[in-house]
Amino acid sequence: MSDKVSRRQLAKIAGLSAAAMAGALEAAEAKPAAPPRNGGGFPAGFVWGTATSSYQVEGAVNEDGRGASIWDKFVRIPGKIEDGTTGDRANEHYHRYKEDIALIKELGCRAYRFSVAWPRVFPDGDGKPNPKGLDFYNRLVDELLKNGIEPWLTLYHWDLPQSLEDRFGGWRSTETCKIFGDYAAYVAEHLTDRVKNVFTLNESGRFVYFGYGIGIDAPGLTLPQAEVNQIRHNSALAHGFAVQAVRAHGGRGTRVGPAENIDACAPAIDTPENVRAAEIALREMNAGYLNVIMTGGYTDAFLKYAGPNAPKFTDAELKIISSPVDFLGLNIYAPQNYVVASDQGAGFMPLPIPKSFPHMNSDWLRVGPETIYWVPKLAAKIWKTDAIYISENGASGDDMVRPDGRIYDTDRIMYLRNYLAQLQRATSEGVPVRGYFLWSLMDNFEWVYGLNKRFGLYHVNFDTQVRTPKLSASFYRNVIANNAAGV
Ligand code: NOJ
Repeated sequence: MSDKVSRRQLAKIAGLSAAAMAGALEAAEAKPAAPPRNGGGFPAGFVWGTATSSYQVEGAVNEDGRGASIWDKFVRIPGKIEDGTTGDRANEHYHRYKEDIALIKELGCRAYRFSVAWPRVFPDGDGKPNPKGLDFYNRLVDELLKNGIEPWLTLYHWDLPQSLEDRFGGWRSTETCKIFGDYAAYVAEHLTDRVKNVFTLNESGRFVYFGYGIGIDAPGLTLPQAEVNQIRHNSALAHGFAVQAVRAHGGRGTRVGPAENIDACAPAIDTPENVRAAEIALREMNAGYLNVIMTGGYTDAFLKYAGPNAPKFTDAELKIISSPVDFLGLNIYAPQNYVVASDQGAGFMPLPIPKSFPHMNSDWLRVGPETIYWVPKLAAKIWKTDAIYISENGASGDDMVRPDGRIYDTDRIMYLRNYLAQLQRATSEGVPVRGYFLWSLMDNFEWVYGLNKRFGLYHVNFDTQVRTPKLSASFYRNVIANNAAGV
């Protein structure tokens, strides 16, 4: 059908008035769909959630004694943020959290992943805590529980206290790792009477390289590879300190694990040789963080490849780094490497990605739904875990508000439908994925892209702060209600 056919014309063709058509759509969205036709669904008790992070949604950066984070400083460097915006206001979630929790409830989600802003709780990173900062998270957690939503807390989603960057060079120093452990202990002591699941650091794979290697994220440095590798090692050490702190100070039954943007490898073609190659690739491409925290050692291939740039470490550090975790949180968006078997090197060859490979509104967000099947399946095998959570998955779209005030994001629905179908394929084969957090509850501050890239199930008008459900919110509600991908 030509693009030139208007909604009014379409309504006419369908024999409906525009108002009746809107009504029909509304009714279709409100009803849960018929039971899944593929005869299956997700396992009973599967955790359905959404996710956000502190700097991306909270705003209120100067309120109630919050200290500055490296992002507060970074966003003020001219040219760093594509649209010149900051997280100063973002979604005003600090004040609107009750309204936002109502939105989560509306989806039928029983879990919500949020992060604690370290400088809200410790304005200088260490030293004197700020009770008003902690109070916000007390209120948030209580409101979630009141609404039947389980809080899943992330300790670090990139908003490092600026004071630690100034005094110690941030993650360049193991001092910051130890202080992170103290902060984790404090949060565990005060919140794990109600919060039962804690993620340590979000996406070491990104904030280390983007922040200290190529200067795209805060603090915006471009250090040599040897230093970047050392910083990655420090981030693993910080994770280990946090695991130990949560164990020592957490309430009974508190579980803890990473939330990592695993370098996602999948076989280009499903043959036993390529699957084996993808398994090796997944381990080696994640040797600098996930593999070392799950096994307690750097692989020979990693150390050989890093050569003189390899991180310096002690056995005692490796022990801390590999403190046993309760689950593996994986952020899975796009395929990073399609691999085939090779008789060279470690046994795999990553293939170049063609320019025409389909992607979503963000260029990096390639559409490879089978990634969310292969990666958890291979990860469970390599690291022998029986609890994997997809700590993030989702997509950006242009999300135009149509003249009828609605957002028909069929592109996001296409992406989610395909990824969830593949996730369901994994769970139906017994891959131990226990839950899924959709990124994101609502449009928010997307780091270097500012407010330009929208990932939400709810559209946010950043001038008026009005939240409007997109069609994908109805889609996700349906998935949750049926506990099935709805293929
Ligand atoms: C991963 C990050 O954890 C999150 O902060 C970001 O907004 C999403 N990916 C989308 O890029």
